[in-house]
Amino acid sequence: MCGIVGYVGKKEATPILLDALKRLEYRGYDSAGIAVLTDKGLSVYKTEGKISNLESKLPDIKGTCGIGHTRWATQGAPTTINAHPHVSGNIAVVHNGIIENYQELYDELKSEGYEFVSETDTEVLAHLAHRYYKGNLVAAVIEGLKKVKGSYAAAFICEDSEQVVAARKDSPLVAGIGNGENFIASDVTALLKYTRKVVYLHDFEIVSLSGGNIEFFNFEEKPVKKKTESIEWNIEAAEKSGYPHFMLKEIHEQAISVHDTLMGRLSELGGDVMLSEVTLTREEIRELERIVIIACGTSYNAGLLGKYLFEGLAGIHTDVEISSEFRYANPVLDETTLVIPISQSGETADTIAATKEVKTYGCRTLAITNVVGTTLSREVENVVYTMAGPEIGVAATKTFTSQLIALYLLAVHFAKARKRMDVDRSKRLLVSLKQLPGMIQQILNNKETILKQAKRFSNARDYFFLGRSLNFPIALEGALKLKEISYIHAEGYAAGELKHGPLALISKDTPVVALATRGLTYDKMLNNIKEVKARGSPVLAIASMDDTEISKYVDAVIRVPVTDELLYPVLTSVVVQLLAYYTADALGCPIDKPRNLAKSVTVE
Ligand code: AGP
Repeated sequence: MCGIVGYVGKKEATPILLDALKRLEYRGYDSAGIAVLTDKGLSVYKTEGKISNLESKLPDIKGTCGIGHTRWATQGAPTTINAHPHVSGNIAVVHNGIIENYQELYDELKSEGYEFVSETDTEVLAHLAHRYYKGNLVAAVIEGLKKVKGSYAAAFICEDSEQVVAARKDSPLVAGIGNGENFIASDVTALLKYTRKVVYLHDFEIVSLSGGNIEFFNFEEKPVKKKTESIEWNIEAAEKSGYPHFMLKEIHEQAISVHDTLMGRLSELGGDVMLSEVTLTREEIRELERIVIIACGTSYNAGLLGKYLFEGLAGIHTDVEISSEFRYANPVLDETTLVIPISQSGETADTIAATKEVKTYGCRTLAITNVVGTTLSREVENVVYTMAGPEIGVAATKTFTSQLIALYLLAVHFAKARKRMDVDRSKRLLVSLKQLPGMIQQILNNKETILKQAKRFSNARDYFFLGRSLNFPIALEGALKLKEISYIHAEGYAAGELKHGPLALISKDTPVVALATRGLTYDKMLNNIKEVKARGSPVLAIASMDDTEISKYVDAVIRVPVTDELLYPVLTSVVVQLLAYYTADALGCPIDKPRNLAKSVTVE
């Protein structure tokens, strides 16, 4: 995830900026840069790769005011040109977030004669600040940002004076108050070595650091009174934003990550999905005869939901294949097939090998991945990035729900191109998609119920997760999560299949998690619940809030908000993730680094 830092004080800025950036390294990044004000003007250095790379290229820069950045590529490859800071005349900027109306601003600025050198959306921020700068950096930043739609934590520096100005909307920004020196950062971790007195900025607030002064403004340039807080966390706790594990932090980030996956991709007006990165024309989408999804582990489970969506919404026959099996299966493929590899890391050897293989058949390829510039993204024609931000816990959580969202978006896009979805239906679905972040937050706010149930069953040796239809992939994912981090044996099963064998394993010692949200198979699911109840299993149901019936048949119910029937998998995912997390925590397992597992599996 991108990180920003800024410093104004009496000490040399460069070592402080580099050290602060290094404290953000754990978040992941692929390039870094700094801008420092020297007596010869702005000194800007940036490079792809590690901060140590940058450090080795720096001359002795003298200056006590500067900004710095670690970039995790989203728009534009991870290159030196795309690294921040970006400069326009006498102004430099570093930015976290996404500028949604980038194209419109780009066209406008270009017509005024502004030159663009990078592929990033951030460059428009530098030009906007430059366009409005008339000696007052705060005013210029406000004027510029008023034109921007999207999210940002952005810090600006101008060669006219020793001042750093930073602002935020939908992306974290914190100011640090020192002794005769002040700081800004996207993450409090960057500041803890220097100060524990911090001020968190809210959306549409600006902070200005100059000399020993720190001032806060709103977008009307009126001063804002802010509360200073004292941070008690140590650095390790701060990296996890106070959560005991990265996995729990990442589960909690899902209201934001799902929002980020959707951002800039919905046009509710016409009920359209805007995926400019997909270069398949409407005609080509209509001509597709088959989709093959290839993936491993959690990404495979996401792919299974894709099958329901592509077939149900867009009417395209879809197969989902485990990458390691598919490669050696003599697949029948041709140019009417679209292959969709899904991989959080973009570096999974099995998926990359299978992708290389399918290209020899002339298939079209479109990857869904979370990391820009990876091997997988270079192997395919098109990439839809999930924009979930880096994931550090080995167990995939936020990247899984973002993969689901990417699949909804693609399925609606394809369904509309193939005239299988009318505007009313797509509009309703897009409105419901937009409501998901708020609903995820509701589930997170109610996590105590999940904690209680996890503790209740944490001594079980075997667990079953049952689901039907759209919830079947989430049953698999719930079981995978539990196995992976708690080491409890768990099976995910299509509920209707249980009676064909595994029912023999069901007893009072095997808790069953039944994913029973409203929809086509709800009644059938109730029957399956009765089947396991009759054999003595304790049943924990995950059901919608409006379901007044289910509690009659089960031992406990975890509720999720009412949404479009198609979208429940996103909400039930969050519940099974928390259930796995709290179970593993109750058992004292090393949650972020489970035994025998790696975050990125780069061997076949
Ligand atoms: C998920 O919790 C696992 N760590 C694992 O199954 C993972 O999803 C799998 O290795 C695939 O990884 P990828 O998405 O990076 O390709």
